[in-house]
Amino acid sequence: MSMEQNRDVSAPIGVFDSGVGGLTVAREIMRQIPNEKIVYFGDTARVPYGSKSKETVTRFSRQIVRFLQTHRVKTIVVACNTASAYALEDLEKEFDVPIIGVVKPGAKAASQATRNGRIGVIATEATIGSHIYSQYIKKINPDVTIYGKACPLFVPLVEEGLWEDPVTDEIAKRYLNELIDIDIDTLILGCTHYPLIRSTVARVMGEKVTLVNPAFETARELRETLEKKGLLNDAPIGLGENKYQFYVSDGAEKFKTFANSIIKYGILSAKTVNIEEF
Ligand code: DGL
Repeated sequence: MSMEQNRDVSAPIGVFDSGVGGLTVAREIMRQIPNEKIVYFGDTARVPYGSKSKETVTRFSRQIVRFLQTHRVKTIVVACNTASAYALEDLEKEFDVPIIGVVKPGAKAASQATRNGRIGVIATEATIGSHIYSQYIKKINPDVTIYGKACPLFVPLVEEGLWEDPVTDEIAKRYLNELIDIDIDTLILGCTHYPLIRSTVARVMGEKVTLVNPAFETARELRETLEKKGLLNDAPIGLGENKYQFYVSDGAEKFKTFANSIIKYGILSAKTVNIEEF
């Protein structure tokens, strides 16, 4: 099912993720493009995506795009690396609405940051297995070498709130030591949860390694896309006017507490949606 694209500049931007991680992307959009409304969907009932198949993640992503379209969104941001890796191509073909993922902007930023041509990527098993960062980076610069490392324990550690904790430090050392040994100078935080443990990763990697957060570059690309399409909203919107709306597939209260620890806009309520209906 495809719907005609909404050309109303005051329409919201749809942002989705497998759960709470995409809030790091939403936060960046709020910072960089403060006049835009956001409808956020976190698939908290079906998280994690990082250990699921391409078919499953694509089916979930399709349902979420259909849900976001009921909010007449003018653009959609796939604020999940795994969904960007697995589903973005199909979504772009199937829907008329402009859709932006987080992988391409992250790959671009890393290609610009590296000096020695050795880039590391940390992400879910799915994102690493898809080699998607590698493919995008090689298109920009075929001489760069990319080293991928899946760090599956980081997601539950972040969700448990252990952002600054000796346990997270220990796990980070185990995961990251091999990347230190191969002398990378740039590391992509290729999972939306990882910016929340950025300081731990930075400490373990040392100051010579530049950390790339794809969320930052994604918000920039979103702004550019909106400008190009004449869809950027210039008029300020008050917080009361449904500026930021949050939906989840389960656990709205837990999501709300977590969201308020990431986004400091005195948020918010989150509503539960039966996403299987879409
Ligand atoms: N949001 C996912 C990502 O960026 C991580 C969590 C998950 O596995 O669903 O890849």
